Amino acid sequence: MAKSAFLFLWLNIILYLCMLGSHISYSQSHVPALYIFGDSTADVGTNHYLPGSRAKADFLPNGIDFSCSKPTGRFSNGYNTIDFLAQHLDFDESPPPFLSYLDSSISQFLITNVPTKGINFASGGSGLMDHTGEKWGRVISFTEQVQQFSSVRSNISELLGASAVANISKSLFIISVGSNDIFDHFDANHTGRKYISTLISTYETHLRNLYDLGARKFGIVSVGAIGCCPVQRNSSYCNEAMNEDAQLFYSALRSLLRKLSSECKGLMYALADSYQMSKVIIDHPTRFRHVFTEMKKACCGKGKLNAQEACKPGSDVCKDRTTYLFWDQYHPTERASYFAALELYAGTDPELVPMNFGDLACHQP
Ligand SMILES: *[C@@H]1O[C@H](CO)[C@@H](O)[C@H](O)[C@H]1NC(C)=O
Ligand SMILES: *[C@@H]1O[C@H](CO)[C@@H](O)[C@H](O)[C@H]1NC(C)=O
Ligand SMILES: *[C@@H]1O[C@H](CO)[C@@H](O)[C@H](O)[C@H]1NC(C)=O
Ligand SMILES: *[C@@H]1O[C@H](CO)[C@@H](O)[C@H](O)[C@H]1NC(C)=O
Repeated sequence: MAKSAFLFLWLNIILYLCMLGSHISYSQSHVPALYIFGDSTADVGTNHYLPGSRAKADFLPNGIDFSCSKPTGRFSNGYNTIDFLAQHLDFDESPPPFLSYLDSSISQFLITNVPTKGINFASGGSGLMDHTGEKWGRVISFTEQVQQFSSVRSNISELLGASAVANISKSLFIISVGSNDIFDHFDANHTGRKYISTLISTYETHLRNLYDLGARKFGIVSVGAIGCCPVQRNSSYCNEAMNEDAQLFYSALRSLLRKLSSECKGLMYALADSYQMSKVIIDHPTRFRHVFTEMKKACCGKGKLNAQEACKPGSDVCKDRTTYLFWDQYHPTERASYFAALELYAGTDPELVPMNFGDLACHQP
């Protein structure tokens, strides 16, 4: 299992090197729009518009490698995984955050300009459960993200008509969520199977709500090897209890999606085993040393593993950011995100079941 993941990743890396410097042309996208849901792994600036939120990345050194070194609210030195995935799907980058369309006040759901290429609802610090992320002051919970999508859908229906609504069922719904539910709960309660099954039944409710609103194609990113992120590990070991939760989450999610696709007519999905995708790299540092030389330390932060503090103005920042797997306490670097997106788009079983995101995009309902 690990071996095939390694081989595939290696092919990706070769592919990536071949593409460097040459113009990449993509065929016309099969996907009219991208709707993005989840947490900081997918957030492209939502929390920037949330007064009172402490889960923000709209300041340097975040964005240091973005054009003009501009912090965008992404928890990255540049683009995140969703941006690169969007590029593979023939978009310029992730669609903009929902909150960026709102008329000054966030309580007013007034969309001045209905976006037809999709919207990003993801909010850093959020999770599947409504109370996840409370410690950050304010985040947009998954329930709220679905409500926001619902209002966008009614705007599309009112302003653009039936053919635009029909495009929703051909659009890709990309979801990356679950880590924060485990993090928050782990600190308080030390997780386990019972909590994971609560999470998965909550996930089921959210997916059914999206399905009822017309979503048909789901690209789902599971929880990565979160026990190995710099803030959770020490110089020798990952937090294996946390990694176990990530694996339990994946297997339960896999069963849920199998069930939903048999019960819900027209529902299609691609599920990424992010745990295996990230763990294979961390477990084989010498094999991957040509790509990443630092897989433990955060690039931006302070103290032990550069992970005792969040990335913020005044943090220590590594020079060669292309050799680090982790940008900060929790998040991958732009380069790691590039490889992750390539894997989501073109990866193979067992990391992607029953198909990859590229095939999901082409699949006709
Ligand atoms: C968009 O939908 C929201 C919620 O349904 C509604 O309040 C708002 O007036 C709509 N905007 C437009 C321009 O139709
Ligand atoms: C539906 O999507 C196609 C692209 O897949 C686009 O050309 C068309 O304009 C969209 N229709 C509406 C009404 O947005
Ligand atoms: C911990 O468990 C208690 C009791 O089951 C629950 O009320 C509380 O919300 C849990 N805390 C977190 C952070 O999940
Ligand atoms: C690292 O953590 C493990 C348990 O997770 C512990 O057994 C070990 O002593 C720790 N090592 C160091 C160097 O702190």
